[in-house]
Amino acid sequence: MVKLEEFHEFIVQEGIEKDPRDRSRIDDLLEDRKENFEDLEGARKEMFDVDRLENPFDDTKVIYGGDKDVERFAVGVDMEVQELVLLDRLNEKGRDVDGVITHHPTGRALAKLHEVMGLQIDVLSEYGIPVSQAEGMVRSRSSEVKKGIHPGNHPRVPKTAELLDMALMTMHTAADNHAYSYMKDYLDEEEPDTLNDLIDTILEVPEYRWSLKYGMEPQIHAGDDKNRAGKVGVLGFTGGTDLGDDIIEKMVNSGIDTLVAMHAPKGQIEKAEEKNINIVTAGHMPSDSLGINLILDKAQQKYDIEILPMSGYKRVKRNE
Ligand SMILES: [Fe+2]
Ligand SMILES: [Fe+2]
Repeated sequence: MVKLEEFHEFIVQEGIEKDPRDRSRIDDLLEDRKENFEDLEGARKEMFDVDRLENPFDDTKVIYGGDKDVERFAVGVDMEVQELVLLDRLNEKGRDVDGVITHHPTGRALAKLHEVMGLQIDVLSEYGIPVSQAEGMVRSRSSEVKKGIHPGNHPRVPKTAELLDMALMTMHTAADNHAYSYMKDYLDEEEPDTLNDLIDTILEVPEYRWSLKYGMEPQIHAGDDKNRAGKVGVLGFTGGTDLGDDIIEKMVNSGIDTLVAMHAPKGQIEKAEEKNINIVTAGHMPSDSLGINLILDKAQQKYDIEILPMSGYKRVKRNE
């Protein structure tokens, strides 16, 4: 059993542990937020989410019931109104779920999703894309994302959790950082030769093997299966959402041959085909599951909690 607030704090710290940024960069970000907070006045100060002063992941939040003790978490990729209602139904039948973790953010954690995109600057520069280019690209894409999510119905899911009195948190970038660092190290070590080999290498990971069952396995979305993978960049695994089409041009100029992502938008695929860049999409649900599993393995070592996997999430334990 663990208090949701304490569990959330643990998840944030583990997310920082696997973050592509140096800790000093994260400390600077939090320091800036503290300074800005001091200057706030009136409603903006009163309504400020003080968790932001300690937690750099605006998409990894307690949504409802931080003071509640949780023993059994239902965990899914998308835990929305229908899943919360389903859980209430299951509880009527005696499942005793007392906490919910959704990977994809909801409520204010979705409304501020664009705020986490800055970490992609460090992912890109790690792969040799000049920091000036990375900053320009990430800045313009995150302002686009911000405008896109602004009109959403953000109070809907939080209110549902409140009405059902069900503890709820989101665990997005903290988990995706784990998937990113795992896949980066794994592919760097395996050095697959062709795109075909790259796909086979990814399929060695249990979450991706599971994904075959649902026809959502890794796929080549640009390039030929006999193409050499060359320099592989795990560029679409963490940092909120994808970078759109512009990333392809930067890859051409920086010598990255193959982009590995959880999923890729249509425009990005078209651009990649035009520029002879390879795109391998590892698969969305298995990639999200991988990140969730790696962080929950650590959580289950520390806390006595049970996990009920659902909504596109496949539980695989690694430390038994
Ligand atoms: Fe994700
Ligand atoms: Fe996702």
